[in-house]
Amino acid sequence: MLKQGGNAIDAAVATTVAISVVEPFSAGIGGGGFLLMHRAKQKEMRALDFRERAPLKATRGMYLDAQGKVRPGASVDGHLAVGTPGTIAGLYEAHRQYGKLPWKTVIAPAIRLAERGFPVSHRFVESTRSRQEMLLKNPDARAIFTRNGQFYQPGQVLVQRDLAKTLSAIAQDPNSFYRGKVAAAIAQDMQANNGLITLEDLKQYRPIWRDPVCGNFRQVRVCSMPPPSSGGVHLLQILNLIGDTDLKSIGWHSPDALHLLIESMKIAYADRATYLGDPDFVKVPVRSLISPEYAKIRRQGINPRKATPSAQIKPGDPALIQRLSRESTETSHLTVVDRDRNAVSLTFTVNLGFGAGVVAKGTGIVLNNEMDDFAIAPNTPNAFGLVGDRANAIEPRKTPLSSMTPTIVTQNDQVKMAVGAPGGSTIITTVLQIILNVLVYDMNVRKAVASPRIHHQWQPELLMVERFGLDPLTINNLKQRGHQINERDGWGNANAIVVLPDGSLEGAADPRGEGVAAGF
Ligand code: GLY
Repeated sequence: MLKQGGNAIDAAVATTVAISVVEPFSAGIGGGGFLLMHRAKQKEMRALDFRERAPLKATRGMYLDAQGKVRPGASVDGHLAVGTPGTIAGLYEAHRQYGKLPWKTVIAPAIRLAERGFPVSHRFVESTRSRQEMLLKNPDARAIFTRNGQFYQPGQVLVQRDLAKTLSAIAQDPNSFYRGKVAAAIAQDMQANNGLITLEDLKQYRPIWRDPVCGNFRQVRVCSMPPPSSGGVHLLQILNLIGDTDLKSIGWHSPDALHLLIESMKIAYADRATYLGDPDFVKVPVRSLISPEYAKIRRQGINPRKATPSAQIKPGDPALIQRLSRESTETSHLTVVDRDRNAVSLTFTVNLGFGAGVVAKGTGIVLNNEMDDFAIAPNTPNAFGLVGDRANAIEPRKTPLSSMTPTIVTQNDQVKMAVGAPGGSTIITTVLQIILNVLVYDMNVRKAVASPRIHHQWQPELLMVERFGLDPLTINNLKQRGHQINERDGWGNANAIVVLPDGSLEGAADPRGEGVAAGF
């Protein structure tokens, strides 16, 4: 797209739709996402929310049984788990306003990939296996993602004819997803399978331009996605908690530096559980949560030598929040910087592997299970172990709280870095660590993305450490401070682009995933 004279938006839209074809297990047109862009000439940062919305018929207790207990799997498997998809509406809105190439041109590569097929990867195959029960049960998913019930092997070519037809209809008229034939097929499929989404839900869907959240960190300005993502707020909050601590001289991955990060993460995720939700439905105290003054007060609660048990870390005192308020495992990420230094950072998802595990009949569209990102009952962990309460309770048309953190860092109004990652609850801390690796530890972008990571989300009381990522002495030191460590295989599939002082670009995709960095 860039070689054809397109800009960062054209490239981002084309790549997003293409990923929908080749990575249906992680993200797609049956889901939603967030786009952050920086317009170089205008020095303007814009944020577009095209996340799924709860259907009009959704109710607070829709995943509970008659006794008020959560029905296992109800918010994750099948049609009831699906939120009204927003990807096509969002991409079209971004392209309508800022794209240079014709809409049909940016959709064309995805149609080709669906029509002609592509060799499936190991990751694809693993993902089908981990979701096999649902994929075999749903007739369209079975017909597309298996050969007579046998899952594809790596290297075998997957053709998606229905999806090619759907994308061709969208190339002709993007509204067909919300008002035309595609909409009718989705609504019929929902009705036939006890799903809640109707034609009215699709008709009413609108992407929303929101004010990005921004804050200063050292010499740079960090901007990211505001609510209904929690990503930007907590990224900035953790950067504020670190404040001017000289992490570099303390040492990268030294126990003291890690301890400060971990305790800061716990505070941020504790606030997330109470205060974050869809700002169109609840008042989210964004200003307070990202204010350096708030961070200073919370930082006083961090014991530099001992881990504070999560049970003792409470969300910020409402009176303090009020006082500071001056205002009324799967997922995919892509990053683009074009020749004019416009930047796009876009994260989108169908939530868990293959979303709800169902394909809307005749459309080839894998439907999301984003409803699980709501707090389906107070303090009941979702698939990522995240807890929440009233702020993120289900309501019709409400957007489930996300952790997606598409981020752009600028210095003197010029892009310095664009970054993002998939990974559910771990997205925020992944983006945080890549930013610190580049800005504080002076790593090149490849090393910054590849380096081992840690993650703590307050609840459960566990510090995730990438297997072999920390040396045994450091692990022992952290254990002695009271951290409960859980070593795991690497997570996240981040990518980032850094603009070097000479103006050239350095890009990197995560060695943990299948992305690539490309430029010309
Ligand atoms: N579905 C994961 C997230 O949006 O955070």
